[in-house]
Amino acid sequence: MLWLGESDDSSGWLLTRRGCAHGTIAMHEERRDMPTADKVAKLWNAAMPVRLPGRLLSEVAAHADDIRDALTIMQRVRNDESCADILLEEPYRSRLEPDFDLLAPIHSGHDAQEIEKIAFDAVKSGELHAEDLWMKVSCLSFHDSDDSIRFRFSYGMEMFKDQEHDPLREELAAELATRVFPECTMISAHRELCGLLSGLLGYAPLFVERLIYSNAPGGGAQLHQDVETGHAGVVYAQLFGHTGWLALPRSELLDEIAGFLAASEIPEFAELRTMPQDALITLLESDDQGTLETLLNSTPAFTRRLIEHGHGLVLAPGDILLLPQQSTEHCCWHSVFCLDDEPGHSLSFAIKHPA
Ligand SMILES: [Fe+2]
Repeated sequence: MLWLGESDDSSGWLLTRRGCAHGTIAMHEERRDMPTADKVAKLWNAAMPVRLPGRLLSEVAAHADDIRDALTIMQRVRNDESCADILLEEPYRSRLEPDFDLLAPIHSGHDAQEIEKIAFDAVKSGELHAEDLWMKVSCLSFHDSDDSIRFRFSYGMEMFKDQEHDPLREELAAELATRVFPECTMISAHRELCGLLSGLLGYAPLFVERLIYSNAPGGGAQLHQDVETGHAGVVYAQLFGHTGWLALPRSELLDEIAGFLAASEIPEFAELRTMPQDALITLLESDDQGTLETLLNSTPAFTRRLIEHGHGLVLAPGDILLLPQQSTEHCCWHSVFCLDDEPGHSLSFAIKHPA
């Protein structure tokens, strides 16, 4: 990613998220070479983002109809249609039956970003095989200008996910995602990608906790990590549209924060400037980051610093991005911007050890 300047420059993409315009960027074409397996391993082990440019280009073409169908569902949900009602229509009904029984929508009651949560039973030979599988549609923010949504496929208790270990329902939730969004196989059945990951990890991973994202203009995700017990990282695939990313290991993010605070005289960050590093780390990992959240997500000068230090990248349709998430201390933090003037489509799966 190249930084072009603060103003809106028609030769590039404006990085805007939740009402904050950060500046204009362009794609860094020279950095779009396919990395060698050695380079991939080096980046992964250093908790750096690994882009595999164009790796899914032929799959994007082969799944053009599925991608179009997904964009249609996304738009219908944005227009306040019930996703459960949509799934009762063809082709979804035939894809789900007889293996998945769609139950009444449920409300978790603890998530203000939830739009709709739909429960399913899995059925085998006419008998109940597994219950409490679900698909949840959420908005990504409460900002008026952000229409970004995501579809999550999982099972059981959402709030206590790390206490559950149910390989059968995990696999069925992944299968449910593929029934609704067949383009999921672009990742899960990609022999080269699976081979690359197997070589990297020493085992053939499962792709679980499947998320289907539609980042919309003015939206995206704030800087975060996705460390989960038993998960090695995340594989993200851009299927439609372009996204801009800031992605870097936590250690480098902490260095960038320290460097920025040392050079900046912004009064709002005075308290952060004198904060010991362990307190800053606690704040970074907390749900309420206070002014640090502003620094990380709504401070154009900090965004510019990250891009100029090589931590920005652009994803185009067919690109894969691997985000290592080995541990809280050693993981790749990342944030996302929608670069287009229409919503996109992407997949984001957790990479998990099969045991
Ligand atoms: Fe993430």
